[in-house]
Amino acid sequence: MHDIIEQLEMKRAAARLGGGQKRIDSQHAKGKLTARERLELLLDDGTFEEWDMFVEHRCSEFGMAGKTIPGDGVVTGYGMINGRLVFVFSQDFTVFGGALSEAHAEKICKIMDQAMKVGAPVIGLNDSGGARIQEGVASLGGYAEVFQRNVMASGVVPQISLIMGPCAGGAVYSPAMTDFIFMVKDSSYMFVTGPEVVKTVTHEEVTAEELGGAITHTTKSGVADLAFDNDVEAILMLRRFFNYIPLNNRERAPVRPSGDPAERIDESLDTLVPDNPNKPYDMKELITKVVDDREFFEIQPDNAKNIVVGFGRMNGEAVGIVANNPLVLAGCLDIKSSIKAARFVRFCDAFNIPVVTFVDVPGFMPGTSQEYGGIIKHGAKLLYAYAECTVPKITVITRKAYGGAYDVMSSKHLRGDVNFAWPNAEIAVMGAKGAVEIIFREDKADPAKLAAREAEYKQRFANPFVAGARGYIDDVIQPHETRKRICRSLAMLKDKKLENPWRKHGNIPL
Ligand code: HXC
Repeated sequence: MHDIIEQLEMKRAAARLGGGQKRIDSQHAKGKLTARERLELLLDDGTFEEWDMFVEHRCSEFGMAGKTIPGDGVVTGYGMINGRLVFVFSQDFTVFGGALSEAHAEKICKIMDQAMKVGAPVIGLNDSGGARIQEGVASLGGYAEVFQRNVMASGVVPQISLIMGPCAGGAVYSPAMTDFIFMVKDSSYMFVTGPEVVKTVTHEEVTAEELGGAITHTTKSGVADLAFDNDVEAILMLRRFFNYIPLNNRERAPVRPSGDPAERIDESLDTLVPDNPNKPYDMKELITKVVDDREFFEIQPDNAKNIVVGFGRMNGEAVGIVANNPLVLAGCLDIKSSIKAARFVRFCDAFNIPVVTFVDVPGFMPGTSQEYGGIIKHGAKLLYAYAECTVPKITVITRKAYGGAYDVMSSKHLRGDVNFAWPNAEIAVMGAKGAVEIIFREDKADPAKLAAREAEYKQRFANPFVAGARGYIDDVIQPHETRKRICRSLAMLKDKKLENPWRKHGNIPL
């Protein structure tokens, strides 16, 4: 028995060594942690239960027959983050560059299947050269098996991808179907085809970093949600992020009571909005002043900055926040901001997280580039997302709510549960100037007359009381009591029940 136990320990030690000390050193030299070091940091101490440590590939082509490494390039299993269950896989770049074989894919699929059965999130730490080239179609099949599970798990358990090394070819499509993608700056990249292929096909010269690095994907493409300086920061932030999400679609996110009083008022909010309606202000100031302990976990902070999305807590309850930001593009809705916010609202809706929306929007962005880019379809995504959303929805109009954008931004008509407006709110079809130029075109030659018309329009419509008179706004509130009113509304909505009619699935304008 002693010998057998010793043999087992030797086998385990071999698996733990992955591709060997030399390759581990090379991984460290690149500033990267190994697959196992990453899991140690991600999971609570001593909670990792590893599966399939002895799995090996079955390939004998291209000299692979004698080259097996136990575990086959991916460490899989489950553990705890802050005492809550999570399934994990961590690709080991020291083993065939973390390339995905049939067996490697089977290991990932096994933990995904189990995660769906027990209702726990899946976190993938990606560091891989893509399909295991020696295996050919077996490896492609392996990818597709993972993709299928990504889709089946979507909206059932949260899925999060951390990109911590190369992620090329088909390998990008599994992360793309997960709910959130975090990347590490300078050591991770994602692209469908690498710089060499790009050069051959389009004659563009571009580095891997420019083509698919963390900065590219968090500022230009919007593919990734957050970029971190190194592996350690990325993992520690992921642990924080995990506290905002539920384990599955039948549960609620954990409540974390705080010492911040739900009824706290903030007088400074009364002067947040400048007197001049064309002057910007930072919507993030409002967000941090109303959430518990000023803690706001922003998602995609560097992409489509004209809309802000992220998680916070109100009276301990996790909420998703969506807010137009007048500081960028006057807070207009454009293609990118509509897509960003629509995806966020759908995540919240799928996972029982109430949505709080702060509105200051002059409308949809006009222009050929937006129209040619399909703003009609993309703007409709956000409209669709809010309209199908059944979780508690609380809306606060802080200044402008014009035109179609008024309707879109969680209005009463899209089943907003509680819709507030600040007293300075302007809820109308459009701004007064534009409105009178259209309806009083005949007065255009007479600036004084036009100015009088504009003043009249402003007086009549640039306020929240016209909407209030129709019940489109439940109450006009003082800015300083915003937190209190939202917290009370959330408490009232705690047991909200609303179901959409049965259907196979809707047809969101993609
Ligand atoms: C098998 C691979 C591999 C792969 C890397 N390796 N990629 N083995 N299949 N796809 C091995 C290398 O042979 C090497 O082995 C070790 O991993 C480390 O690789 P290096 O090249 O030395 O490392 P580095 O210089 O850091 O470069 C990393 C890399 C590069 C950028 C990932 O290796 C690379 O470009 N690999 C190929 C990427 C690729 O084209 N993949 C297929 C994509 S198509 P040794 O023994 O020397 O340590 C695809 C289709 C999927 O994924 C479609 C699904 C729908």
